[in-house]
Amino acid sequence: MVTNDFTDLPMKIKLPEPEASGLSRIEELLANRRSVRKYAEKGLPEEVISRFLWAAQGISSGEGLRTCPSAGALYPLEIHAVVGEGNGLEPGIYRYVAEEHALTQEIPGDMREKLAGAALSQPMVSKAPVSLAISAVYPRMTGKYGKRGIRYANMEAGHAAQNIYLLGVELGIGTCAIGAFEDDDVKKVLKLPANEEPLYILPLGYI
Ligand SMILES: Cc1cc2nc3c(=O)[nH]c(=O)nc-3n(C[C@H](O)[C@H](O)[C@H](O)COP(=O)(O)O)c2cc1C
Repeated sequence: MVTNDFTDLPMKIKLPEPEASGLSRIEELLANRRSVRKYAEKGLPEEVISRFLWAAQGISSGEGLRTCPSAGALYPLEIHAVVGEGNGLEPGIYRYVAEEHALTQEIPGDMREKLAGAALSQPMVSKAPVSLAISAVYPRMTGKYGKRGIRYANMEAGHAAQNIYLLGVELGIGTCAIGAFEDDDVKKVLKLPANEEPLYILPLGYI
């Protein structure tokens, strides 16, 4: 520990302001990232939904590595897109298949109200044209890492959510990380298998 000469208090070192040397692109995105809870009434094109899914969990290397770091490259996360009326995809709940950069439709119809009901009626979820739900299949991690694998999967969800936030800043699309919801109710709405736990809901909408 660095200490002051006259006391044993740790010495405070004032750091240069990040702006002093001019912000890089990524620093600009970080500086402008905020949780946004109100959205324009404008749908998201399919191409934009695709970009968010790729940012969250897309393949970014020839070896199949993804945009998020993952302990042991075991990739425990699943992403669902809950799509309402007026977007570039038919209303429904879709599962992202990262390996093929594709979607499978799991449930047809606009399920936003049902998902919002499972999320303590937070209005962002019913109002946003699209929400992404991040869930974890813990056994993919605990098989190798035991109980600690749960922590690793949860950490990875944070990486995925931050990727979604930062792409949103770039595209003028707001999001808000939502962790307050009834797990069992969200599982029912998304029809998740028993070994898959919901971690985050991220509504998406133009600002
Ligand atoms: C794990 C976690 C859970 C959160 N859950 C909710 C939530 O359920 N509803 C909500 O409106 N915001 C939620 N937030 C967003 C925080 O309220 C927000 O990040 C915080 O107020 C700081 O604001 P900022 O993101 O704009 O910097 C959550 C954030 C995190 C990291």
